[in-house]
Amino acid sequence: MARRNIIVGLDVGTTKTAVVISELYRESQVHLLGIGTSPSRGLKQGQVVDIVDTSEAIQTAAAAAEHASGIRLDRVCVGIAGGHLISHSQKAELRLRANERQISDRHVDRVVRATANIQPPEGREIVAVIPKSYSVDDLSGVSNPRGLSGRRLSVDAHVVTGAVNAMTNLENSLKMARLGVEVSVLQPLASAQACLTKEQRQDGVALIDIGGGTTDIAVFMNDHCWHISVLPLGGQIVTSDISRGLRLPMTVAEELKVKHGRIDSRATQDRNPVTVPGFDRGAPTNVRMSDLTEVIEARMVEILQHVKRELVHSGYQQLLPAGAVLTGGGSQLSGLPEMAMEVLGMPITLGRPPALWGLEENIRRPEFCTGIGLSLAGLEARSGAGLFSHEPRGVNGSIDTVKRWVKGMLTPRPEPEWEAE
Ligand SMILES: Nc1ncnc2c1ncn2[C@@H]1O[C@H](COP(=O)(O)OP(=O)(O)OP(=O)(O)O)[C@@H](O)[C@H]1O
Ligand SMILES: [Mg+2]
Repeated sequence: MARRNIIVGLDVGTTKTAVVISELYRESQVHLLGIGTSPSRGLKQGQVVDIVDTSEAIQTAAAAAEHASGIRLDRVCVGIAGGHLISHSQKAELRLRANERQISDRHVDRVVRATANIQPPEGREIVAVIPKSYSVDDLSGVSNPRGLSGRRLSVDAHVVTGAVNAMTNLENSLKMARLGVEVSVLQPLASAQACLTKEQRQDGVALIDIGGGTTDIAVFMNDHCWHISVLPLGGQIVTSDISRGLRLPMTVAEELKVKHGRIDSRATQDRNPVTVPGFDRGAPTNVRMSDLTEVIEARMVEILQHVKRELVHSGYQQLLPAGAVLTGGGSQLSGLPEMAMEVLGMPITLGRPPALWGLEENIRRPEFCTGIGLSLAGLEARSGAGLFSHEPRGVNGSIDTVKRWVKGMLTPRPEPEWEAE
């Protein structure tokens, strides 16, 4: 993969692994060259539990993407997710020297790095630092301080920590698949990159990515990410409820949910049966639509209530004029937007990947938001622009680019003009 303008997104999801190869054409147009997928078997709730299975899924998806694009892969932009991620706010301040009062990229970089000047609890490490907003002297709520003049530059950032073991397991799965990492990006940010517009991010919006094992939440205002969380609940638990509640094999329950699952008011009254293969060597068995709806509805209400609790806890629930954008495979459940509107009490839209050159219409599905978003995020990180301007730009072919970048900051350098709060 010698071409510098090619970037590869790798989404290691709980139910599927996706590899997306994109090319930046003439410095502005993104050309999607190929997508490869494979079912994932080695993950639980977004975390690697079997390195060999995970690595095999990565290799199969990578081989399919290589075949589709004719490009050989070596490094990827990988998504980090899983219920082990925790974020908290951290502030830092930089005093500007008398002869350097105009704020530059270097000042911004330095003050953001200072927020990572903390010691995470035992067994955890910093995996990302996301600036929320800046202040220049007494002027607060500044989204881009570059070019402004002042004496003090402060930043309020999210510092996201993850379990060391979870990160190492992902790293080892990639090593086994002989892939290096150019940059790692939090999956909710990658999904947001693919399916939110700048206007939505500017006005205030919550992105809710309902996957197989997790539901990722990212809140944006003023084009910055203000809150991030990952709930260890997704579509798989709905399938397992159907399997247990209606006594069906998991594969049958999954197919039944995807083909016939609905949570509208008509479905709750629908006594018509659907015939599916049962446990008795596939002998046909009947399932009433209303029973199926009842099981799905109960779990989806619970997931949405958890999402609501997170949004209320974030403090931004009342401040999102653009409402919530649902994406991820689980967002395709018929009737979900109406239920989400009722439970979350805000306008709901469905998010899917943007219309990119080379992206066929039938692939513009919500489950590909993260993979496509990762390749877009990788391009932005490379150029140092947009949402990922504070991701490291150095290329060292290892998964822990972010970790190393942040770890380097854990021991404060003797620079008297700045201090972390
Ligand atoms: N039409 C549908 N109705 C309901 N659920 C669906 C539908 N299509 C797919 N799903 C569910 O979407 C989930 C998979 O979504 P996705 O591919 O986004 O997850 P993932 O990325 O593998 O997992 P995660 O992001 O949680 O690690 C599965 O649980 C699947 O049952
Ligand atoms: Mg996913």
